[in-house]
Amino acid sequence: MTDLTEYLATCSQRVESFLDKNLPTKNQAPTTLHDAIRYSAMNGGKRIRPALVYATGEALGLKSSDIDCIAGSIELMHSYSLIHDDLPAMDDDDLRRGKPTCHRAYDEATAILAGDAMQALAFSVLTDIADPGPEAAIRAQLTNQLAHAVGSLGVAGGQAMDLIAVDKNISIETLEYIHRQKTGCLIRACIDMTQTCCTTLSQQQRSSLLQFGEHLGIAFQIRDDILDVISDTDTLGKPQGSDSDQNKPTYVSILGLKESEKRCDDFYQQALDCLDEFNHSSKWLRMLAEHIVCRQH
Ligand code: IPE
Ligand code: IPE
Ligand code: MG
Ligand code: MG
Ligand code: MG
Repeated sequence: MTDLTEYLATCSQRVESFLDKNLPTKNQAPTTLHDAIRYSAMNGGKRIRPALVYATGEALGLKSSDIDCIAGSIELMHSYSLIHDDLPAMDDDDLRRGKPTCHRAYDEATAILAGDAMQALAFSVLTDIADPGPEAAIRAQLTNQLAHAVGSLGVAGGQAMDLIAVDKNISIETLEYIHRQKTGCLIRACIDMTQTCCTTLSQQQRSSLLQFGEHLGIAFQIRDDILDVISDTDTLGKPQGSDSDQNKPTYVSILGLKESEKRCDDFYQQALDCLDEFNHSSKWLRMLAEHIVCRQH
């Protein structure tokens, strides 16, 4: 087991125990909805976003217990976005995280409502002042940051543009914009929200970290586009070839595999450059960035 595998496992355990504590139990009414929520949240996701939150915390000397609510709220938001992304009205996929998608395991209405409830729960855990962690004024700022990341100028807007782009020829600039919105915004929020909890950073340091998140977010989605072509369904835990089946523009469909790999690496290198002033404390951020662009699923 590598260092990073252990680190990822520790981060997963941490966020999963937070989620387990905060998700309604399956036997609370309405039981089917609560079952669907747990099915979609506690189901073997890679938990890369929570790991980015904890690694940013480590780089800034924050206590993990002070940022659990950030890791948990972002993972809830991400898991909700996957449920809706898989719906027939969107990507119409049948497999997620190695299991039938929420609307397949339950039904469409339950999947829509599970997503709705998980988005609400994400804000609820972030604003829960009974939870140890950031003080109320910081929580208000975090809530605003998360809302911006997932709204019509963030994930939801990116998803809308992603759907409009189906069957169209779009430029690589337009696709880059879509990727920044639909995926980059939430990846960036992992770093940005965590740094909000650190009051001692210089403006320069804040802006470097923000840029790191920006570059990493786009690299993340380029790698996802690449994996849709080069990987297989068992490894991915989601249907390989889903993008081409839907005639969805991706980095690979526009630029080809080689150039997509090069662009992914360029964003990765730019991301690393932004960590120069954090040196040793950013070890996990660097390793996670490398993992994101080399991952096999
Ligand atoms: C998949 O995200 C959706 C994208 C934004 C590309 P992940 O690859 O992080 O999925 P999980 O959480 O591990 O299932
Ligand atoms: C999903 O992008 C982005 C969000 C869920 C917001 P994709 O549609 O490429 O993600 P996968 O490949 O289904 O995981
Ligand atoms: Mg999609
Ligand atoms: Mg999809
Ligand atoms: Mg994809």
